[in-house]
Amino acid sequence: MTTLLDVKNLTRAFDGLIAVSDVSFSITGGQIKALIGPNGAGKSTLLNMVSGTLPPTSGLIAYQGRVISNRPPHRIAGYGIARTFQNVELFMNMTVAENVMVGRHLRSRGMLFSAMFRLFGTAAEERRVREDALRFLERVGLHDQADTPASELPFGRQRLLEIARALATEPRLLLLDEAASGLSTREKRDLVSLIYAIRDAGVTIFMVDHDMDLVMSISDEVVVLDHGEKIAEGTPTDVQHDERVIAAYLGEEAAHA
Ligand SMILES: Nc1ncnc2c1ncn2[C@@H]1O[C@H](COP(=O)(O)OP(=O)(O)OP(=O)(O)O)[C@@H](O)[C@H]1O
Ligand SMILES: [Mg+2]
Repeated sequence: MTTLLDVKNLTRAFDGLIAVSDVSFSITGGQIKALIGPNGAGKSTLLNMVSGTLPPTSGLIAYQGRVISNRPPHRIAGYGIARTFQNVELFMNMTVAENVMVGRHLRSRGMLFSAMFRLFGTAAEERRVREDALRFLERVGLHDQADTPASELPFGRQRLLEIARALATEPRLLLLDEAASGLSTREKRDLVSLIYAIRDAGVTIFMVDHDMDLVMSISDEVVVLDHGEKIAEGTPTDVQHDERVIAAYLGEEAAHA
């Protein structure tokens, strides 16, 4: 198993606040790796830097040995990194299938604007892209709702649609930012099966989540952030017994009490 992603001394400051501070870790190909930490720990900021939507203040990110920090998001997507968002970001005025078709076009063209224009390409091409999109919808169980407007899907299914759109770019690394948040117990169970299936199909997973049962049952390794710093990394058992991790989460409970 080789290293797929290397994060070295990664830092991001917002004005006075250091949201991610000197964080280093790596992700092995084929792993399910989780990133956890209390609210505001810097998890989404870190994911945003990996996907290129936010430039690091310092440090570097290498993917398959190539430095990708400071590359634009469409380039990083082109290298094989796809993501979903903590707050679902779909094209709500488009249908389910069209949302995934955008993901397909993104893969072939790399640019979102051209991707959207290409939705109005030749009929034959359009048909082929739609057929591809349906395959990805089938993987997440949404093929029956291909022509439903994305806005009409229940929330849990919108999260699945985002995963289908990400898969349609044929990534090797999938970043999930709280994919389980807002899901019912049953939807979470289905999500776990889906994540395993994605991993078994050869996609490495890096996921942020607050559901500890889910994270601890599914992950090979866990990285823990608190106030921007990495406070622990290891197997689920290791981090669950780590004193700094316990203290960070107890502190969060006290703050919410
Ligand atoms: N664009 C921004 N401008 C200024 N501050 C920001 C920005 N994005 C994030 N922050 C701050 O950086 C810190 C880390 O935020 P981030 O969203 O990465 O945390 P998180 O671990 O994902 O939290 P949550 O679990 O609530 O999603 C927070 O204090 C947040 O307010
Ligand atoms: Mg977040």
